[in-house]
Amino acid sequence: MSNEIALTGIKPSGTPHIGNYLGMNRPALDLAKKYQAMYFIADYHALTTVRNSETMRRLTYDVAATWLALGLDPEKVIFYRQSDIPEVMELTWILACFTPKGLLNRAHAYKAAVDANIEKDLPSDEKINAGLFFYPTLMAADILLFDTNFVPVGLDQKQHIEIARDIAQAINNTYGEVLTLPEAHIVEEVMTIPGLDGRKMSKSYDNVIPLFSPPKELRKRVMRIVTDSKRPEDPKDPDEDNVYAIYKHFASPEDIQRVREGYLKGGLAYSQVKTELYELLEAEFSEAREKYNRYMEDWGYLDQVLLQGAEKARKISIPKMTQVRQAIGVD
Ligand code: TRP
Repeated sequence: MSNEIALTGIKPSGTPHIGNYLGMNRPALDLAKKYQAMYFIADYHALTTVRNSETMRRLTYDVAATWLALGLDPEKVIFYRQSDIPEVMELTWILACFTPKGLLNRAHAYKAAVDANIEKDLPSDEKINAGLFFYPTLMAADILLFDTNFVPVGLDQKQHIEIARDIAQAINNTYGEVLTLPEAHIVEEVMTIPGLDGRKMSKSYDNVIPLFSPPKELRKRVMRIVTDSKRPEDPKDPDEDNVYAIYKHFASPEDIQRVREGYLKGGLAYSQVKTELYELLEAEFSEAREKYNRYMEDWGYLDQVLLQGAEKARKISIPKMTQVRQAIGVD
C-alpha cells in the first residue's frame, strides 16, 4: 500500500448501471487497495445542471448508497461530499485567477454547449451558465487541494486533468512548488461496454442494465439484449456479440472459454448465454442490492458516513489552504 493519493469525483447522475460499475466502481475499488483513495460526490459540479433540491438530495444519497453497497470501506477510503469541504471553494477562486480564459473556452463540455447553440442559430452563450464555464477550475480545486497523485477517470475527463496540471504549473511557476501535479489514470474499459442495443451503455441512450433492479426486471433487461438472428445450431462470432461482450466481464475464465468455443462451433444459443449472464449478475449483485435498498431508507446513516469522511478530508485540506494562502500572501 502506497501513501500516494488516488482521488476521483463522482457526479451524481441517477441510477447506476453495469457500465458504470465496470468502468468506474470496480476499478476504483481495486485501486483503493493500493493507494490512499479519496472518493467524493461532486454535488457542486452537478449544480451546473441539477436544479431541483429534492433531486439533488436523492441523487447524492444514491451515489453514497451505491458505493457503500458495492463494498467501499469508509474506514479505508476517504469518502465525502464535495460541498462539505469549504476549502474547495476558496481554492477555486485562487485557481480561477491563474486559469487562462482561453483554456476554458476550449474545454470540451463548454465548447460542445457553444457548438450546439451555433448549430441551432442561437447566440453562442445562450442558456450557458458561468458554472459550466468554470467547471474545469472547480475540478482542478478538487484535485489540487489534496496533493493528488492519480486521478482515475474515463477518457472523457482527460482534458480536465490536463487543465488541472496547467493551472498547478502556473501557480508553481509563480510561487515555487506549492501544488502537486496530478496524473490521469485512464480507465479504458468504459468505452467498450455495450448496452441493450449494442451502442455504448449509457443512460442517455436508455439502453442500460441497472445494477440494482429487482430480479424480474433484471432478467427482462438481459433478455432484451440485441443479437443477430443466427439459430442455436449456427456458428457465431463471440467478438461480434453484445451478450458475450458483457458476459466476459463477469464469468470465470473457464466459462468464458466454454462459451467462446460453443459459439464458434455452433450449438450454443444466445438465449442460453443470456440466461447464464442473468444468473451471474443476480449472484454478483443480489446482496449489494439489498444493502443499497437499506441505505436508501436511512439517509441519516449516509449523512453520518459522509460527514466523517469530510472530517478526514479537512485534516488535509485545512493545512493545505494555510500553505496556499501563505504562498500567495493572503495569510
Ligand atoms: N467531472 C467529473 C465527471 O463528470 C467529476 C469530477 C468532479 C471529478 N471533480 C472531479 C473527477 C475531480 C475526478 C477528479 O465525471
